[in-house]
Amino acid sequence: MGAFLAACTSDGSERSDVPDASAGAADNGATTSAPPSTPTTAAAPEPQPLPEVDALDTEPVDLPAEPFTLGVASGDPDATSVILWTRVLGAGLPSIVPMVWEVSVDESFSTLVATGRAEATTEHAHTVRAIASGLRSGTTFFYRFRAGAIASPVGRAKVLPALGDGQNTPLRLGVSSCQRLGDGGYAAHDGIAASNLDLMIWLGDYIYGRANTVDEYRDLYAEHRSDPLLQAAHASCAWSATWDDHEVANDYNNSVDQARFAAAAKAWWEHMPTRLPPPDPETGAFDLYRTIDLGDHGRLLLTDVRQHADGATLLGPDQEDWLASQLDHDGTWTLVGSPVLVSGLLLPVADNPLFYTYDGYPNDRARLAARVASIPGTVFLSGDLHTSMSLLMSADPADNTAKPVATELMAPAISSAFPEDLAGAAPLLGLVNPHLQGIDPRNGFLRLTLSADRALVENIFYEDTTDPSSVAPAPPMAIIPTAPGLAPA
Ligand SMILES: [Fe+2]
Repeated sequence: MGAFLAACTSDGSERSDVPDASAGAADNGATTSAPPSTPTTAAAPEPQPLPEVDALDTEPVDLPAEPFTLGVASGDPDATSVILWTRVLGAGLPSIVPMVWEVSVDESFSTLVATGRAEATTEHAHTVRAIASGLRSGTTFFYRFRAGAIASPVGRAKVLPALGDGQNTPLRLGVSSCQRLGDGGYAAHDGIAASNLDLMIWLGDYIYGRANTVDEYRDLYAEHRSDPLLQAAHASCAWSATWDDHEVANDYNNSVDQARFAAAAKAWWEHMPTRLPPPDPETGAFDLYRTIDLGDHGRLLLTDVRQHADGATLLGPDQEDWLASQLDHDGTWTLVGSPVLVSGLLLPVADNPLFYTYDGYPNDRARLAARVASIPGTVFLSGDLHTSMSLLMSADPADNTAKPVATELMAPAISSAFPEDLAGAAPLLGLVNPHLQGIDPRNGFLRLTLSADRALVENIFYEDTTDPSSVAPAPPMAIIPTAPGLAPA
């Protein structure tokens, strides 16, 4: 399918120096302008070295030869801490595997700055998580687990900058979703691992496949996480994840059987390196929506469009109240992570496959648009449709006079294929959706680099999802306003 691009300057006029679709240009890159931000004038104090800590001895334990075959992961960082994760696997594991975790400033672990003990138990499929705290904001650390005489692979994680700490280094974020194994390979995870990201934002569909019991869900996580490229992506940076339907069942909504939902929620929690407390063991209920503060860069608001949806609202009243409360902050950018499309599309097809997006909840979208209209620097990040898109979000996509209030970037899917019903309609989408700025169904991931005055948007595409070397040539650049009328003069 051909891609198209309509690039605009902040006054809304068309740019003539940006190649258009007829020249084969893709919606690969853009800069999003930010609102003016208050420059930080105070010089950052010279950082003192973190105090060194002594290594802990591991307890003796009988283990299979290679128990760390699922690798390591980290997630939900803040300005002083990050969650560390691993799971041990193998025949004959004892019901409790005592471990030591270590955080170091160097990859050889010669200088430890944090360490502690944790237990992997059968209660949680021998997954283990630890909070490594007391770390310095804006700094990269290395971590590993040790059990008996065996050490895990080494992971890398960055503790995020703190509000007002004067760190104005651009923040490098990755965004993607949807990694169906049957559709393709994980070449994009190789690119994520190589991108030196500060944070990877995952917008759902981490697993695909039919499961009913908690063990079946755990097996799906183990199957997906066995991929070495996915492991490398996790080991390269911290992830913050929300979920979509496939973590429970295809196109599930909150009417799914409670026991099955509880099993799905438990397995998700066990396998994601998240700071969240575990879901209710009986019902699976938990508040997965949360805020990840990005220091002076702003904040990321991760939403859950599945668990709280009902006939009236997609987010549910509590999540809507939370979202409204989190929009008030002192940072530059407001990133809203949504597993599904926010801005909406008019589709020239008979059965609208977008009923389970904000297109099925137009009143939710109108309320959301009204809330962010006064907040410059709002960017919706979305997934689900297995194509990249950039859109201008307004209260009503069918109303050409509705004022755009934010940018939406739908990230490329890792491996899941663009649905055929949408692919057939794709050439017409731009004609009937003037707010759609660009679309490209290739697989890959989105890289978003936040600075105080701009966001660099790069879609990294792969021609062959089984071949990391098939990364597409460097994308063209374009300028898209964050929100016409709100962009700096
Ligand atoms: Fe998907």
